[in-house]
Amino acid sequence: MDARHELGIGLLGLGTVGSGVARILPAKSEALFGHLGTSLTIRRVLVRDREKPRAVRLDPACLTTDPAVVLDDPAIHIVVEVIGGEEPALTFIHRAVAQGKHVVTANKEVIAKHGPELFRAAAARGVAIKYEASVGGGIPIIAVFQHDLSANDLREIRAIINGTTNYILTRMANEGSEFASALAEAQALGYAEPDPANDVDGHDAVYKLAILSSLGFHTEVHPDQVYREGIRQLAARDFQYAANLGYAIKLLALARNTTRGVEVRVHPTLIPRERLLAKVDGVFNGIEVEGDLVGRLMLYGRGAGAEPTTSAVVADVVDLVQRIVRGESPAYQEPPRVPRPVVPMAEVTSRYYLRLIVADRAGVLAQIAREFGERNISIAAVIQMAADAAAGTAELVVMTHQANEAAMRQTVAAIARLAVVSQVASFLRVED
Ligand SMILES: NC(=O)c1ccc[n+]([C@@H]2O[C@H](COP(=O)([O-])OP(=O)(O)OC[C@H]3O[C@@H](n4cnc5c(N)ncnc54)[C@H](OP(=O)(O)O)[C@@H]3O)[C@@H](O)[C@H]2O)c1
Repeated sequence: MDARHELGIGLLGLGTVGSGVARILPAKSEALFGHLGTSLTIRRVLVRDREKPRAVRLDPACLTTDPAVVLDDPAIHIVVEVIGGEEPALTFIHRAVAQGKHVVTANKEVIAKHGPELFRAAAARGVAIKYEASVGGGIPIIAVFQHDLSANDLREIRAIINGTTNYILTRMANEGSEFASALAEAQALGYAEPDPANDVDGHDAVYKLAILSSLGFHTEVHPDQVYREGIRQLAARDFQYAANLGYAIKLLALARNTTRGVEVRVHPTLIPRERLLAKVDGVFNGIEVEGDLVGRLMLYGRGAGAEPTTSAVVADVVDLVQRIVRGESPAYQEPPRVPRPVVPMAEVTSRYYLRLIVADRAGVLAQIAREFGERNISIAAVIQMAADAAAGTAELVVMTHQANEAAMRQTVAAIARLAVVSQVASFLRVED
């Protein structure tokens, strides 16, 4: 057999995803690669602890705690990185590339922060870095951007790309739970980490949006440039009020390709309930894309979990193997990425939802309306939601028409200073 057709895999990590890959690749190898005259073997697996019980049966001799055993083995052609985190994963990927190995990774943090430098290093070395599993778990989206939508100028990406927060928000909407109890339930079910910050504060969605907007708009968006708000501040009554107004609240990752630059932001958002995105519930993910030719397109599926993520990782391996066997360049030749300005959040326009606790007496509304009027923000609706007779307060929800973010923030600050306003309880954006 041609040496090229005896391909070796080196696996970095044998956790949730690594175990899935270690189980599925040998099980499906014959069906996937047999007709290509190719045999694919997992030669080495890097772990931290060789003694740890594993979810998959593997020859114990495969396991190593020495990265060099994987990264410097000339019989390993493809390195699958499923360790996670920035380091040492970044160093390992660089080293694999320098050794002329193709890389498949599920690592959103590394790709979001270091994608451009890694892709340049890979191109210079003539190898590929593939990262389908880094966004949307089992949902095919990277290959869809690279291939199926390549004729389009993408205008907008709107996505629910964090299953943990979507599960929590769905519980808050359906059961009337407050954030803390919905989070505790997600943790008990294994949907949220003991330290949930990466998910609930929006970092994970930011990484994924940086990857999608960079790829989709052929530019370089660093995660630090993405505006971010998490979901900790949301209250159960916001979900009730939003529902009464015909909206769901979702942690939306939104990227817009405008003439002034790219808008990239992750924040809780009111979405009309009839929109498909508003119906993406529980741990599911949904990615809506708008292109000049294709119009609006929606991808929906499982954004995490061993099997969906393994589906994406193995698909990347299959694609690499097919290209290698056909003698093609395995590296995807994407159009050049051109740096574009990121529109500052202060310059973004949106509709807004504001929940205020105010004194329950005449003349309050006029004072609030004046603050909006002075900054040319037009109010779409004001609804008195509930009154607390004992406290002498009432709860008001204000929905605005399109307004500038900076003007809106000034208005909210001015409203908060009014003697008749005891609290600006919520300040959320609305996408129609
Ligand atoms: N889990 C999902 O549903 C999912 C979905 C999409 C993408 N991803 C991405 O997939 C990647 C892996 O996630 P996971 O959930 O499988 O993680 P995980 O369960 O925590 O597994 C990590 C694995 O990496 C090994 N490891 C960690 N640090 C290491 C080090 N310094 N040296 C050697 N080995 C090390 C661990 O070894 P030990 O086993 O010995 O501790 C473990 O086997 C991450 O980038 C994640 O973001 C995961």
